Amino acid sequence: MQTGSTPHDDRAGVSANGILGAQARGASGRLLPEIWMQDGAKRVEEALARLLCAEDDGETELMAAMRYATLHGGKRTRALLCLAAGALADTPAHMLDDVGAAIEMMHACTLVHDDLPAMDDDVLRRGLPTVHVKFGEATAILVGDALQAHAFLTLASLNAPGDTPIALVRELAQAVSAEGAAGGQAIDLSLVGKHVELDRIVAMHRMKSGALVRASVRMGALCAVGVNAAHAALYCALDHYSACFGLALQVIDDILDVTADTAALGKTPGKDAAAQKPTCASIMGLQEARQFALDLLRDAGEAIAPLGPRAERLAQLIQWANAYLFKHAPRA
Ligand code: IPE
Ligand code: IPE
Ligand code: MG
Ligand code: MG
Ligand code: MG
Repeated sequence: MQTGSTPHDDRAGVSANGILGAQARGASGRLLPEIWMQDGAKRVEEALARLLCAEDDGETELMAAMRYATLHGGKRTRALLCLAAGALADTPAHMLDDVGAAIEMMHACTLVHDDLPAMDDDVLRRGLPTVHVKFGEATAILVGDALQAHAFLTLASLNAPGDTPIALVRELAQAVSAEGAAGGQAIDLSLVGKHVELDRIVAMHRMKSGALVRASVRMGALCAVGVNAAHAALYCALDHYSACFGLALQVIDDILDVTADTAALGKTPGKDAAAQKPTCASIMGLQEARQFALDLLRDAGEAIAPLGPRAERLAQLIQWANAYLFKHAPRA
């Protein structure tokens, strides 16, 4: 497998803003969201395929399972958030592609482990049998381990200035730590069958899902502008944006577990109720949870409004999330 991030094609040195060309803007000069999002997801998927390729040593079952877990679908929301934040400045596209790929590896790791029999015991993910169903439970555990390691290797091997790689590693590690996704997942499992106040669920959601979303935005911004006192206001706005956006994504996931079907979800619907998991949907009711998600997305938009046109992509991702909610959970 590859670990280096040497610019791999003729885009070396081309910025994330420059790579799309004039066709990405409509007649009004507005960036067309479908163009940059499709292009961004494709570039990150190419980076994933490259970084997880077998090279000369042949493909082991573990590597085949790692590729299965990462390369087959997914909305790529976290990678797109990273690219959108990276577009705040003229960050080299190849660097953002690899950072986005590392984030998606880590996200896939959390999904593979989340689906295990000892956790949510799910058989369907992204429209396919889950990794433990296809490859066995032991391999699925190792896929998570190896994807996590490979995400850090990808960041540590980045062709990036100064201490940027170590700062990126720190952000990603924090996001999946006991204060982040791992801690949130532990709380999630401890609440099964319990009556819980909404505040507790919100705090859990911020950890189990929100922390990686926050890191995705911060990592993109870190590639673009670095972290120092001069950018404190920018990071403050981005942190508010990503806190709202990340929580909204998990609230929407809770709602869609109730409202969407297998074809739309690529997962088995109704799993939260069947497993007696308290969620925003079960505690607030569908309509209130839906309004909560919409309010969070509005707050996310307000947080980045002062950043102006350079936050255009981040604003477009809010519109995308709104449309996704309206499509799969229409108002009753
Ligand atoms: C699913 O995330 C798990 C949550 C944290 C909500 P996504 O809904 O982003 O899953 P993919 O990557 O698109 O499959
Ligand atoms: C999982 O939340 C969050 C992770 C950290 C992976 P869910 O258990 O609700 O995610 P889905 O519904 O299985 O995708
Ligand atoms: Mg879960
Ligand atoms: Mg789950
Ligand atoms: Mg869910």
